[in-house]
Amino acid sequence: MITNAERNDVAGQMHMDFLAVTQQAAIAAYPWIGKGCKQEADEAGTTAMRENMNRIGMCGRIVIGEGEMDEAPMLYIGELLGTGQGPRVDIAVDPVEGTSLMATGQDNAIAVIAASSEGSLLHAPDMYMKKLAVGPQAAGRIHLDWPMSENVLSVADALGKKVSDVTVMIQDRPRHKQLIRDVLDTGARVRLFSDGDVTGAIATAIEEYNVDMLAGTGGAPEGVLAAVALRCLGGDIQAQLLPQHDGEYERCIQMGLPQPGTILTLDDMVQSDDCLFVATGITDGMLLQGVRQRNGTALTHSFIAYGGSYAKFQFIESYH
Ligand code: FBP
Repeated sequence: MITNAERNDVAGQMHMDFLAVTQQAAIAAYPWIGKGCKQEADEAGTTAMRENMNRIGMCGRIVIGEGEMDEAPMLYIGELLGTGQGPRVDIAVDPVEGTSLMATGQDNAIAVIAASSEGSLLHAPDMYMKKLAVGPQAAGRIHLDWPMSENVLSVADALGKKVSDVTVMIQDRPRHKQLIRDVLDTGARVRLFSDGDVTGAIATAIEEYNVDMLAGTGGAPEGVLAAVALRCLGGDIQAQLLPQHDGEYERCIQMGLPQPGTILTLDDMVQSDDCLFVATGITDGMLLQGVRQRNGTALTHSFIAYGGSYAKFQFIESYH
């Protein structure tokens, strides 16, 4: 049984612990920037995350990780982390969000973690997920079932903008050809990006980035991570799992999602306000600067968003 005091522990008490986790993951991944080695970079980030999480006073459990127990050496779904004493916490990780970006030395690779009180995060299998995300002003004004034109009109109305001023971020993939055309047909702008849709979702909720929506299909784990960030920031997301074959369909059933095609709301993905999202830049990017290293000192740039009544978000620069 979790007490109310413990329910507030994730956002309230543990943010510095989780900050250290993404900072160390980013520092560990740094030597692999632009080296063409996705796997090595991911392993370095994963190892650092695991070591640092095991120092935290918590009973943590990975719900979104680096794969299943038999295929991932660490940070697999179901892995228990922490000292075994303290609050019970659901954890979602992506030690290197944007592995291709990182391996090819491009912008926007980040180390990401989200945590929430036990039982409150969607256990999403690693498969594709359709997503539609907006910031606080347009929360409640989108629906995945609506045509794109209706969503764009609704968001423009919520933001008090002309449709021609609405910007929709979409991952640059052949599967989004029709979606891009649909947005352009409304007269709105598209902003295409190569990888990293967690950053795109966060950008909708922070005015300076001038992004009004994120639309398209990406990874389900990234969808849950983005949902935690948006819950903290007051934004909104709707999503739908897209199993590509019978095996993925079965996986959904096994993970307690009997109707994989159901539209998931923000509340379905993150059921508690006692949640926390942390990201540290690996390479420079839209949201964060990448790791800098000089004379044995590393400089990191991180973003923390808090659920509940805490400050909404902070950018933190640290010397290590
Ligand atoms: P990785 O970090 O696993 O490489 O994911 C990067 C990413 O761009 C995600 O942000 C996005 O959700 C997903 O890939 C999209 O998948 P795909 O590359 O198959 O289009």
